[in-house]
Amino acid sequence: TPARLTLDPAFCVGPVRRRTFGSFVEHLGRCVYTGIHDPAHPSADADGFRQDVIDLTRELGVSTVRYPGGNFVSGYRWEDGVGPLENRPTRLDLAWHSSDPNTVGVDEFMRWARKAGVEPMMAVNLGTRGVQEALDLLEYCNVGKGTALADRRRANGAEEPHGIRMWCLGNEMDGPWQIGHKTAHEYGRLAAETARAMRMIDPGLELVVCGSSGSGMPTFGAWEQTVLTETYEHVDHVSAHAYYWEEDGDLDSFLASAVDMDGFIDAVVATADAVRAAGKHTKRINVSFDEWNVWYQKRAESRPPTGDDWPIAPVLLEDTYTVADAVVVGSLIISLLRHTDRVHAASLAQLVNVIAPIMTEPGGRVWKQTIFHPFAQASRLARGEVLRPVIASDTYATAKFGDVPLVDGVATYDAETGETVVFAVNRSTTDTVPLAVELRAHGITLIEATSYAHADPRWSASVDDDDTVLPRPNGSAAITADGEVTMDLPPVSWNVLRLG
Ligand code: AHR
Repeated sequence: TPARLTLDPAFCVGPVRRRTFGSFVEHLGRCVYTGIHDPAHPSADADGFRQDVIDLTRELGVSTVRYPGGNFVSGYRWEDGVGPLENRPTRLDLAWHSSDPNTVGVDEFMRWARKAGVEPMMAVNLGTRGVQEALDLLEYCNVGKGTALADRRRANGAEEPHGIRMWCLGNEMDGPWQIGHKTAHEYGRLAAETARAMRMIDPGLELVVCGSSGSGMPTFGAWEQTVLTETYEHVDHVSAHAYYWEEDGDLDSFLASAVDMDGFIDAVVATADAVRAAGKHTKRINVSFDEWNVWYQKRAESRPPTGDDWPIAPVLLEDTYTVADAVVVGSLIISLLRHTDRVHAASLAQLVNVIAPIMTEPGGRVWKQTIFHPFAQASRLARGEVLRPVIASDTYATAKFGDVPLVDGVATYDAETGETVVFAVNRSTTDTVPLAVELRAHGITLIEATSYAHADPRWSASVDDDDTVLPRPNGSAAITADGEVTMDLPPVSWNVLRLG
């Protein structure tokens, strides 16, 4: 049966937020060194940043970039990464069993962020460090002049304050793998006191407190409740992290991963609102989904080195993505967008080389993974307000999530241009599904219809071929005599329909 998507400009969820299209740069593997930073590369600028990577970051449409971790931040001393390069120490990075020469630190990152046109989202170390070090970093970054640390920044070449607005209070502090892992109560107290003191320096900050590092964590839910009870008045957002991958060849369940993300967001929002009610608070806490992606965590390349081997910038987490992975990424973007009322920021983890849409050869070529395309299209075309469609679709059986609709989607409407954009996935591995869109608006024209799909959903891009599969015009799209729009969605596909 054809799927049906009914849209009305009145079914508005909330604004399309640019921050939904954030990403993440961690000192991990080759994300920083030989990723964004590669002084030996022909396109490198005076700071050693690859211009080709900056160009693709812009093409991807990235809004915010979270930095410098991730698990890395929980052992990080930010002071190691500022000042003259020759004085910077090489340190062990315990999180990834690597060495970090500290060639890139906060000042370099801020220069890169400006060139890439992205908003920084800075994380402080609440693993091995605490309130004072967070305050020091904030003073270094955001205070104008006349204090020891502000003047140190100026002496290091950054006359103007960095003016960083979004700050993460640590990373995944619920995870036993985290350096300085804490109970919810221990972390909640530390995060509250850190946030309270940081706001004494700069009341305008937006602070993200750590939620769970996955909906499967044994403490999920209870963690959010305790942490938010301790921190509610001091923070703005609670983080959520989720990674999905195809397990044991179960492509059907994998394609339905957004069902988990939907439930995850709903549960965090419900918990935050329950804490709000119990504490008689008036403001709402929103979700910063600041790590999400497909990540094949059990692959060998995700295992850090061991023993005496502490390499600089090893090959780590360099997943190669398939068309099916890109369709899942597209469906996760749909999930984030339809929760735009409560998901106020998100970061695709990560940006370059490490579980990334952009890949580099050291000193050599740059190329796009399959997951680049749904992200770039959604970031470019989602404008105005998010509309909640009513979707009628056949379902299919999945081992992990029960019966799941074959077709999922969301739409945006831009009152300025009058353009409606529908983003839809077909999760069937075998069948093309005809889609009918009923748009309750006048004078509909078809601007463009594209599909991203391939006969082999396990096709992946490589350094030698990253353009065989691209979003291509879908010639089946048409406007019917009744003023509906129809379009055939190929099996395992990500589709974009632009209507004027
Ligand atoms: O993005 C890779 C890692 O995943 C991050 O360092 C950590 O926060 C998460 O577990």
